Amino acid sequence: MNRFTRSRTTLGVVVTALLVAGSGTPVEAVEAAGKYPAGCPWMDAHKTADQRAKLLLQHATLDQKLRWLDEQAANSPAQTSFSGVTYPVQVPCTPTVVYTDGPDYVRGSAGVTVFPAQLALAASWDDKLAYTKGKTQADEAFRSGKNVILAPGISSSRTPLAGRTPEYLGEDSLLSGNLAAAGINGLQLGNKNAPVMAVVKHYVANEQELDRQTSSSVIDGRTLREVYNQPFAIAVAKGAPGGIMCSYNQINGAYACENPILNNLLKGDTGFDGYVTSDFGAVHSTGPSLTNGLDQELNRPRFYTPATIAAALDAGQVSAAQIDGAAFRVVRAYIAAGLFDHPLPATPSTSASTPQNKAVAQSVAEQGSVLLKNDGATLPLSGKSKTVAVIGQTASNTPTNGVSAGTICAEGRDNSAACPNPVAPLDAITARAATAGTTVTYNNGADPAAAAATAASADVAVVFGYAKQGEFADRTTLALDGNGDALIAAVAAANPNTVVVLETGTATTMPWLANVKSVVEAWYPGDQQGTALARLLYGDTDFSGRLPMTFPKSLADIPTNTPAQYPGTFSDGSTTRPAGTSEIRQVKYTEGLKVGYKWYDAQGIEPLYPFGYGLSYTSFGYQNVRVAPPVKGTVSVSFDVRNTGSRAGTATPQLYLTLPAATGEPGKRLVGYAKVSLKPGQSTRVRLTIDAASPDHPLGFYNTATHAWDVAPGTYGVQAGASSRDLPLSGSFTVS
Ligand code: BGC
Repeated sequence: MNRFTRSRTTLGVVVTALLVAGSGTPVEAVEAAGKYPAGCPWMDAHKTADQRAKLLLQHATLDQKLRWLDEQAANSPAQTSFSGVTYPVQVPCTPTVVYTDGPDYVRGSAGVTVFPAQLALAASWDDKLAYTKGKTQADEAFRSGKNVILAPGISSSRTPLAGRTPEYLGEDSLLSGNLAAAGINGLQLGNKNAPVMAVVKHYVANEQELDRQTSSSVIDGRTLREVYNQPFAIAVAKGAPGGIMCSYNQINGAYACENPILNNLLKGDTGFDGYVTSDFGAVHSTGPSLTNGLDQELNRPRFYTPATIAAALDAGQVSAAQIDGAAFRVVRAYIAAGLFDHPLPATPSTSASTPQNKAVAQSVAEQGSVLLKNDGATLPLSGKSKTVAVIGQTASNTPTNGVSAGTICAEGRDNSAACPNPVAPLDAITARAATAGTTVTYNNGADPAAAAATAASADVAVVFGYAKQGEFADRTTLALDGNGDALIAAVAAANPNTVVVLETGTATTMPWLANVKSVVEAWYPGDQQGTALARLLYGDTDFSGRLPMTFPKSLADIPTNTPAQYPGTFSDGSTTRPAGTSEIRQVKYTEGLKVGYKWYDAQGIEPLYPFGYGLSYTSFGYQNVRVAPPVKGTVSVSFDVRNTGSRAGTATPQLYLTLPAATGEPGKRLVGYAKVSLKPGQSTRVRLTIDAASPDHPLGFYNTATHAWDVAPGTYGVQAGASSRDLPLSGSFTVS
């Protein structure tokens, strides 16, 4: 079912007393009467989104059509001037459309829930949770007066140094694509009478902040399709977002927002039928942008003004049909999403968060935290440890050198404003410790010697390490901020039972690893972080998170380990732009398909912690695999997962496939995963299907001779188990 037939069904179920946009008439009255406001036939909800968009544009002048090509002009139908650019009033019965960032929470709105970073959501490996988070965030957006969300974000984590890694969903295209699709479905379909539309970002090969507007991702066609387009393709096929945002960078010498791949690859081969909007300030032209598939300019009109488009028309650079096509895609997407039929509330809420919504944020923080090490069953904490020393700035809401729990709440430019007072880990651990008969002491870690003294006088030390990152800058190291590695080393030297809680937005190196008992990666855990961490540390819930990205032993091991690959070079071979030039940095994607775990597998490099890895408080056994021979392109793989430990827990079985060598695919690829919760001794049969026809192309490679996805004959190796490097089950099947 495509997005438009699906949303057509949605439109039939209108139950609340909402008003038809701009008409003052309740939608249900219009529906009951089978009518629509006079002069607004596009408000006939019995027509398809296609028909309604066509009707609207038939009633529009050229300049009214052009309003849809700019975000601000599309937003406010009654306003006529935007940054000095003048338009006529829009046709009647058009809604107010308000965009908001972003992946982690409804940015710029007071009183909303701050969810953990998307990377934490990815670590949950839980499509249902991604749906629930999307639905919850959309609920808060609509009530806060916003009905388009610029999210989810997708990248391929080409380098762990990339500043925006926490805004994305890890390094694997299937996991990213599935979680993005589930999130889109939650955003767009989760609240039928309070709809919002999703804009997925940033398309494409947008893998670094350094020179993000003045660099070119130099990439071959197969890699572009198999690695960088692929998670978007899965999100489009399974989630049907209304919009996709093109990115700042160039791809092979042409800016993303005027690159022919928008029409050829995204709207063409990938089948995206929504509209393309630009990143903020990412448009560089009128004619080439419109011709190559950019439908809307974000924010104020600069390149898509009535004057610039008229000039491009006169010069023969664009056609009237291209303008109509862009306007049609925008209007159709808004109608299909339900925005025309469910106006935003007249008075936006400034306190949209609810206890139920905060519980969703807590759930993401719990299910997205990954237990990396737990020697001697140091965790869970219990009454046997009479004193627990909590150490570190980000454990507390009282800032030390400007850093507190809110600093690492989520990815975000306005984090401190959005998350001024999260549930601090120190407070939640102190409260939980009291019920276990434990005393908590605290040291902010500013002075490692003082922190070590606090640690020495406790039974267990829980030390927090953090690294802050986000938009505008890449990291230059995988070490912790604020002298965190030295702090952890000092604490570990003072207390043999040291537990490290990491709050980072990417992979982290761990020079102190051998000297600590336990390590938890909590990412940026949102405003319910304390509650979630206290429950995890005390074993009130199991650790079910698994790494969505590889943790390397050192930067020397990562796929992008030459200057030409990252940060990219200039014509003189240097990594510094030649003085007085505006040369475009060339970032060579020569690692090709070897991104993430595929690089480590293909090169035989041992990571610090592999993709898919994470411990539970219990243990699991994997047995009795059966790989059924292919039937009509579908292979069924089943196996038993047993809880072999003494407490209930959640396993995340993973299925990987190795293609025949002739395909040139590096290593294995993830083709399926599940989450199963089991009581001690309980066993379950996990069934995963590999469907050659699915948009994931699990068996496929991009054949550069035929310019199409292809499946090679030969033997396909199947492996299943607990992580990309712990795969006790294996089998194979043959494609003839
Ligand atoms: C970011 C986008 C964001 C936009 C609007 C840009 O700087 O790259 O992700 O959606 O701003 O806030």
